[in-house]
Amino acid sequence: MKICVYPGSFDPVTNGHLDIINRAVKLCDKLIVAVLINTSKNPVFTIEERVGFLKCALKDHPDIEIDSFSGLLIDFIKEKKANAIIKGLRAVSDFEYELQMALLNKNLDPDVETLFMMTNINYSFLSSSAVRELARHSGNIDGFVPECIKDEILKKFKKAGV
Ligand code: COA
Repeated sequence: MKICVYPGSFDPVTNGHLDIINRAVKLCDKLIVAVLINTSKNPVFTIEERVGFLKCALKDHPDIEIDSFSGLLIDFIKEKKANAIIKGLRAVSDFEYELQMALLNKNLDPDVETLFMMTNINYSFLSSSAVRELARHSGNIDGFVPECIKDEILKKFKKAGV
């Protein structure tokens, strides 16, 4: 059985991430979406919120496991007995960082492959930080994030002024 892990901070999950998830699930026997707990990016949304957003966005996909991890991705991969890491590439600018990560992880465990998927062109400009920036200024985030989490995102910025 081929188990794939799609890792990220998902702060918050965007329609760009969902596009990758919906395509990746067709390629793997089992797909685990793994949310990094302690990201150096100092997330706006708590781990519970980020996992909750994914659960809401993927409620029609009970086959997809949503989990969280801290520490090294490769240790999580080993714990889950996974075979591959799925990453999305939006632009050439993503490539250098992703290549470094893939080589690092390959060095740590040669049996684990990193598979890159090209992001849907419609989402190539999209990032979690762009969504946060728009929401912070009460901008329109329609079409950028799943409908069921949109209000929660806007509410968080309104309430906390983060
Ligand atoms: N559509 C839209 N946006 C996308 C996207 C897509 N398909 N794919 C990535 N992005 C965006 C993300 O939203 C994120 O945007 P932001 O920078 O504005 O927040 C950015 O691209 C980077 O995303 P991603 O590649 O998922 O990075 P991440 O920081 O969210 O997560 C980990 C990276 C979790 C995979 C990585 O840090 C990790 O493995 N950490 C664990 C420690 C470890 O093992 N390190 C390696 C060995 S030292």
